[in-house]
Amino acid sequence: MMIDQAKVRVLLLESIHRDAVSRLEAEGYSVESVRNALDESELLERIPGVHLLGIRSKTKVTAKVLEAADSLVAVGAFCIGTDQIDLHAASAAGIAVFNAPFSNTRSVVELAIAEIISMTRRLTEKNALMHEGVWDKSADGAHEIRGRRLGIVGYGNIGTQLSVLAENLGMHVSFYDTADKLALSNAHRCASIEELLETSDVVTLHVDGRPGNAGFFGAEQFKRMKPGALFLNLSRGIVVDHVALRDALTSGHIAGAAVDVFPKEPKGRGDEFVSELRGLPNVILTPHIGGSTEEAQSDIGDFVANKLAHFVQDGNTTLSVNLPGVALPEQSGMSRIVHVHINTPGVLAQVNSILAQHHVNVEGQLLSTRGEYGYLITDIGGPYADDVLEQLRSMEQTVRLRVLS
Ligand SMILES: NC(=O)c1ccc[n+]([C@@H]2O[C@H](COP(=O)([O-])OP(=O)(O)OC[C@H]3O[C@@H](n4cnc5c(N)ncnc54)[C@H](O)[C@@H]3O)[C@@H](O)[C@H]2O)c1
Repeated sequence: MMIDQAKVRVLLLESIHRDAVSRLEAEGYSVESVRNALDESELLERIPGVHLLGIRSKTKVTAKVLEAADSLVAVGAFCIGTDQIDLHAASAAGIAVFNAPFSNTRSVVELAIAEIISMTRRLTEKNALMHEGVWDKSADGAHEIRGRRLGIVGYGNIGTQLSVLAENLGMHVSFYDTADKLALSNAHRCASIEELLETSDVVTLHVDGRPGNAGFFGAEQFKRMKPGALFLNLSRGIVVDHVALRDALTSGHIAGAAVDVFPKEPKGRGDEFVSELRGLPNVILTPHIGGSTEEAQSDIGDFVANKLAHFVQDGNTTLSVNLPGVALPEQSGMSRIVHVHINTPGVLAQVNSILAQHHVNVEGQLLSTRGEYGYLITDIGGPYADDVLEQLRSMEQTVRLRVLS
């Protein structure tokens, strides 16, 4: 497959930042931007003929959508999480997926800090009373965060940065992660999630959205938390049982909660937000805005758009979520063949044997593999017969072949 740069069609959903639109238009691509998410049937109608698809967290890119995507080469997730995309089906179709793993980390951390302080001082209640004309100057139930223990579940990009900032504010930090993680500064690594729950004044979730995490935090975990502790979830809605959270709050066992992500979120502006957590005191509800700052959105827009453009032009897959990462510097006057294949022994030898049989000289070549798949970039200096591509395409391991020039 060879894409004419001037004919690259891009479909961006969910109000992706204008910086991404400008970056892709600057490449000469035709960009269509849609404000809301699309459901599967809408996406099935719109996807044929699209080369690059940009989504945020709401659009589900299913195997069925990918099957209907006759021209798609890459999907850009203009967010951190990619569990809304069927990555297995994308790899099997040779479609690269990119995201922005670091762009909004700081924004999420700052919101978490603001919420920890707000709940510890019971600001939402004071604020609500003031708006009702009630002047309640009491210090009852209001605390400093200094000296309190923050328990971070999930010590990844966000968890670690929160750990550092919280310590700088005078909090003690514990964390629990299923993977081996280096403790930053004075943070204490808990041997079990139970240890963290039983010893923390504030518990905050920053785990990823892998399927095994669905509903992993429920009645049993809330019960384990210290009486009067606070709870935050700014990770993924599916990880928390909201009925159990409501019960823990109404019984008074949990003193407050801040929730930014929900198992079912409205699709667009104006749709009603339905939740068991509405109307509870000292509960901060926000519409999945942890990463939504102008700074983060601009950075995400730029970062993912760059990845998509480089993939179309150079075939570079650095930081791809699903394909092996390969980056070969661009060389002028070369043809570049990019080859996604099933990772079995002898593929490289077979490709080079086809090239050698046709007297094609290889000027540069880089291969990387990742699990089931391999990705090979080959630069060729001179002209070559169409038969070369036909033979490469008909290799039984070939998943997808693209020619860039
Ligand atoms: N609210 C928002 O707007 C917003 C913005 C950005 C990211 N997020 C979400 O925040 C979460 C964290 O993002 P990140 O960039 O730090 O991810 P990350 O992948 O860097 O870190 C996740 C960490 O959680 C750990 N983990 C996974 N399951 C676990 C479990 N059951 N128990 C303990 N540890 C577990 C992983 O080992 C990893 O270290 C993601 O779910 C992401 O989707 C939300």
